[in-house]
Amino acid sequence: MFTRSLLDAERRLVDVQVLSPLGVLPEFHRRGIGSALVRRGLEVLAERNVPLVFLEGDPGFYSRLGFEPAGGLGFRKPSLRIPDGAFQVIRFPAHEPWMTGTLVYAEAFWRHDSVGLRTA
Ligand SMILES: CC(C)(COP(=O)(O)OP(=O)(O)OC[C@H]1O[C@@H](n2cnc3c(N)ncnc32)[C@H](O)[C@@H]1OP(=O)(O)O)[C@@H](O)C(=O)NCCC(=O)NCCS
Repeated sequence: MFTRSLLDAERRLVDVQVLSPLGVLPEFHRRGIGSALVRRGLEVLAERNVPLVFLEGDPGFYSRLGFEPAGGLGFRKPSLRIPDGAFQVIRFPAHEPWMTGTLVYAEAFWRHDSVGLRTA
């Protein structure tokens, strides 16, 4: 599922997307379904001129799909409870160099307390 969120860039707020949640029933794991869902979703978003797609997830899975660590690219995560390595982004052709800044999650992520990790 992709959820519209905002990037708080210096020039203005930018509409971006967040990939979350993603799930495949356990009995269908490792058949390429998760990857196919992500690839097709990204194709559609790129066609719609979305500049950036963010996510929190395991780099082992998402790096194969084109995602890279976001922190070193000028993006700030929306919570300190998101591990640095988990905060990832994919940049599409509609992305322009000035589009950097802080990711602001849609309200639903906060309402369901589904941001980052809780240790307590
Ligand atoms: C993550 C998930 C969506 C992958 O779905 P899938 O249909 O099994 O994915 P694919 O078949 O396209 O890819 C499977 C590959 O990804 C790897 N993979 C799956 N989850 C991984 C993870 N967390 N870290 C690293 N690799 C992972 C598998 O080992 C497999 O690798 P292989 O092909 O070399 O054996 C599925 O495991 C799932 O629903 N997990 C529970 C929910 C979840 O964690 N969602 C992601 C939240 S960020």
